[in-house]
This record gives sequence, C-alpha cells and structure tokens, in this order.
Amino acid sequence: MTGETAHKLRGDYSRMRPDYTVDQEWSRYSEDEHALWRRLYQRQASLVAKYACDEFNQTLQALDFSGAIPRFDAVNPKLRAATDWQLVAVPGLLPDLTFFEHLAHRRFPVTVWLRNPEEFDYIVEPDIFHDFFGHVPMLFNPVFADYIQAYGQGGIKAHALGAIEMLARLYWYTVEFGLIDTPRGIRTYGAGILSSGGELPYCIESPNPNRIGFDLLRIMQTRYKIDTYQETYFVIRDFRQLFDATAPDFTPYYDQLRGREPYAPSAVLAGDRVYHRGIAPVRAA
Ligand code: PHE
Ligand code: CO
Repeated sequence: MTGETAHKLRGDYSRMRPDYTVDQEWSRYSEDEHALWRRLYQRQASLVAKYACDEFNQTLQALDFSGAIPRFDAVNPKLRAATDWQLVAVPGLLPDLTFFEHLAHRRFPVTVWLRNPEEFDYIVEPDIFHDFFGHVPMLFNPVFADYIQAYGQGGIKAHALGAIEMLARLYWYTVEFGLIDTPRGIRTYGAGILSSGGELPYCIESPNPNRIGFDLLRIMQTRYKIDTYQETYFVIRDFRQLFDATAPDFTPYYDQLRGREPYAPSAVLAGDRVYHRGIAPVRAA
C-alpha cells in the first residue's frame, strides 16, 4: 500500500534484506496469535460469503486458512501454479518504489506481524490478516494477477514522472476498496473491505456512500479517506474491464490531470454513472 507512510512504522525493519524482505519465521507465532487469527478468520468468513465476489470466495474455500496463521512457503507452490505469483515476507509498509518493484516482478509483499487483540475491529496499518486474507485469494485470479503486475510496472513509471499520488488513488479505489457488479448483485473484491468486519456489510448495504461506475481518469483525480469508511466506491463490470482500461500508457493522462484540483471523496459529478447516490456523510469507522 502506498501513500500512508507519514507516521512511524510499527514493524521490525532492522533485519531485512536490501529489498525489504525478511524470513516469515512461522514457528515464532504464539498460540495466542494463532487463536486471534482464527477469530478474525471466522468473523470474516461468515461475511464474505454474502458480500465478496465469487472469485474471492472460491479461492478462499479451496485454500482454507481457517486453522492457523498461514505459512507463506506452503502457499507459494499453489500460487506459483495458479498465476506464477509469489508471496514475500516484509516487516510492514514499504517505500513506494520498493513496493512497485516487487509487484512488477509478481512478488506480493505480506506483512509478517499480526495485530493485537485490542485491534480486532480496527487497525491503522496493514497486518498479516489484512495482507493475507484480503489480498492473497485475489492473486489466484489470472486477470487480476496480471492487473497487479501491470500496476507495479506503472508505479515505477509514475515514480519517475512524479505521478504517484494519482496512481495511488487507482490502487485505493480498486485493489483496496473496489466493488464489482455481478449477476447476484454488487459485491466486493477490495482487500481493505474484505479484511474489515464493519466495511463488508457497509459497502454493499449502507445507503450512505456513493456507488459509481469505474472511470479511470475520474478515480485518479479523486481523494480518499484513510480513517473512515469510504464515501464513494467505484464499481467495475469485470476484471477484464479493469485490465483493459488501465492498459494504455498513462503519461498523457498524468499530463492532463496534473495541476487540476482533485475531487472530494464525497463528490458526485455530472458525468458519473451512478449506481447509488449516497444520502449522508459517513461517520468515523
Ligand atoms: N498502463 C499504465 C501506465 O502506462 C500502467 C498501469 C497498469 C497502471 C495497470 C495501473 C494499472 O502507466
Ligand atoms: Co492492502
């Protein structure tokens, strides 16, 4: 995740390699931590059945990580076979360029530490539960897996062009908080939602937030909230739409958007394809 590194980071960055990876050291997780994982997993598993897209649910069921904190070295052969991605263990949030380099090489960074029990409902930084439960099942989808790699390649370019802020909004409104229109109604594929007990029902059921059709340039000029539920969600039709819309070279898009005032997170614009117009401001999560 990019764009959130303002405060002091919580992980142990003292023993990492130059690419910020560490060993997972799975045997060091305590029995209490495994028990907390099981509780987190149980709560989310009952919610995703109703609110997550089929692609997520199918992989989650096939893999079944309900029993203990997963071992990356046990998942990696399966992920390699499915989409040629690999998980790498990291101490926490990474510098933008390091993060992009990993994604561009089909390596997904997963934080090694688990939140404290007091953070059962809410955590500020991504931990292993967010990174693993939210992101890893989607990496088994071939089109989505290719999208994330392309995003990483685009990130390296955006870094050189000074356009990371615009590109980070795309990650936020798709990979972290994206919705998808399915024959069974609107569902989510966004990891920030999938790992959240509160936002899973909220993003689908609440009348408060806007739900607006995916629009690449619109998203890249829309600010977002990092400490409340989202005020606007963007809805894709399928993962192919996401991949195809983001395939062109973004350089002219950045030139077009640079210097423009970004839209507020709650804005609804004349050109928006509105699935639902929110009725009220969102209160804190
Ligand atoms: N096509 C984008 C570019 O040229 C890269 C990209 C792909 C960005 C997918 C985001 C998602 O910058
Ligand atoms: Co994330």
